[in-house]
Amino acid sequence: RRLLLVNGPNLNLLGTREPEIYGSHTLDDVERLTTEVAFELGFEVRAVQSNHEGVLLDAIHAARLDCAGIVINPAGLTHTSVVLRDALAGVGLPVAEVHISDVAKRESFRHHSYVADVAVVHVVGEGVAGYGTAVRRLIEVITGQAE
Ligand code: DQA
Repeated sequence: RRLLLVNGPNLNLLGTREPEIYGSHTLDDVERLTTEVAFELGFEVRAVQSNHEGVLLDAIHAARLDCAGIVINPAGLTHTSVVLRDALAGVGLPVAEVHISDVAKRESFRHHSYVADVAVVHVVGEGVAGYGTAVRRLIEVITGQAE
């Protein structure tokens, strides 16, 4: 069984991008951590990062065919993208929304998420470790162990 891990625009810069907000871990670290946690629980991970919205939509559509759930940090698209939200709603897979920083404590334009109400798991402000939390909670939902 497989999960799709989606990282949105600018997350390729993790590790060097505003480290006081996002820390020093890289996108490679994020993908490795997510893969390791999922593997322990019997899932593979297919990882995609893109700065292009359409590439993310195509990956989400393709997940319909062979993934059991989606872990996504939509990055700035969280706050702007109806099409990303529609793609997630459209494929109907369980979704975990992750943000490295605590978006609720930042600028007001980061307080609204177009994705939040199509996601069943929400993890914010745990840094890169939040991806591990998201995988665990999403797999609980998929396997029916969520309380
Ligand atoms: C982010 C928060 C977003 O507001 C921001 O645009 C990002 C990263 C986070 O992981 O904290 O690019 O999703």
